[in-house]
Amino acid sequence: MFSTKSSGRYVTLPLGQNYRTAPDGICKMSLEAIRWKDNKLEILDQLLLPASTEFMHVKNVEDGWQVINKMQVRGAPAIAIVGCLSLAAELVNSSYSTCSDLMKAVTEKLQYLVTARPTAVNMRKATDDMITFMSQCHGKGMSTEELKSSIISRCENMLAIDVDTNKKIGDFGAQSILANSDAKQVNVITHCNTGSLATAGYGTALGVIRSLHAQGKLGHAYCTETRPYNQGARLTAFELVYESMPSTLICDNMAASLMKSKEIHAVVVGADRVTCNGDTANKIGTYQATVVAKYHGVPFYVCAPITSIDLCLPSGESIPIEERPHKEMTHVAGVRIAAPGISCWNPAFDVTPAELITGGIVTELGVFKPSEMYEKIKGEAS
Ligand code: MRU
Repeated sequence: MFSTKSSGRYVTLPLGQNYRTAPDGICKMSLEAIRWKDNKLEILDQLLLPASTEFMHVKNVEDGWQVINKMQVRGAPAIAIVGCLSLAAELVNSSYSTCSDLMKAVTEKLQYLVTARPTAVNMRKATDDMITFMSQCHGKGMSTEELKSSIISRCENMLAIDVDTNKKIGDFGAQSILANSDAKQVNVITHCNTGSLATAGYGTALGVIRSLHAQGKLGHAYCTETRPYNQGARLTAFELVYESMPSTLICDNMAASLMKSKEIHAVVVGADRVTCNGDTANKIGTYQATVVAKYHGVPFYVCAPITSIDLCLPSGESIPIEERPHKEMTHVAGVRIAAPGISCWNPAFDVTPAELITGGIVTELGVFKPSEMYEKIKGEAS
């Protein structure tokens, strides 16, 4: 049973049933991780999943920075959306005397949010996008209030745009996997969490699995545990069970054996940052999964919105890799499992060389070989 709390109202729900609407106003269990309603931002505290679903109020940019940094919200698209909506929530209750003051404050606050987690590029791209947008609005002679409303609307729109983008990614990815296989139903492996909890909804790599399932083409989805933070065991498994998709949890070190002993048609993962040449930073363990997939001839797909593609970097060498607290490795659910005194190395991400992304990079514009991606999307991404 799962206990759900929202705005002080609780309801206890069994896992695996589809509670989607809340006509009575009580929060029913839903996999939406980000709620924006009446200028109020609430996020599902992902540190508590799957034991309980509890929403927390994010009042301003400082709260936004904290929930992103502590990984109460995580996943590259969700980080940018929550960051921007935390700005919107703060702006609603702020006033500025001139457009210049407003633009300066917004720029500084967004740049601060970029520092909460350095590897995913989405928050930085959202910042660049907002700076361009503000100067275009300013050029049109908007008043300070009009500019503020336009900024808030742009942040709000990110939610719907992201869901739409993910559905396209899901369908393009599913189509490509099915086109490369004669199987009636396909078995896929995914790593980390790229679903509704990492985005505004539907998900990227998990969106591909969702699309396959909706078409009756999903044989089985395998999700890795994703040590050390366990996004796979805690979050992806939660989503797969919630959606009643045929699925099985494996430990990270079981992927090679699984590929050897069962027929696996594809590996699908998300991305925190893809560079011009197709090199991809994603959750630690992605790189080793690509090596294993290549050895077994299993197509490997990176599923990423254009907002995760960084055309400022030629290759993955200069992607900043976040190192997380050692406690994430030494402890599980607050209980120490590692021998006291041992030192730890805890990079949250690794970089997969483009040549190992054998299936392709799945975007909302289509599926591209890493070597052709830059030419195909350079007009859309910056
Ligand atoms: O550390 P996390 O949980 O934020 O890492 C998440 C991932 O690596 C995801 O694969 C990536 O952000 C894509 S989410 C659609």
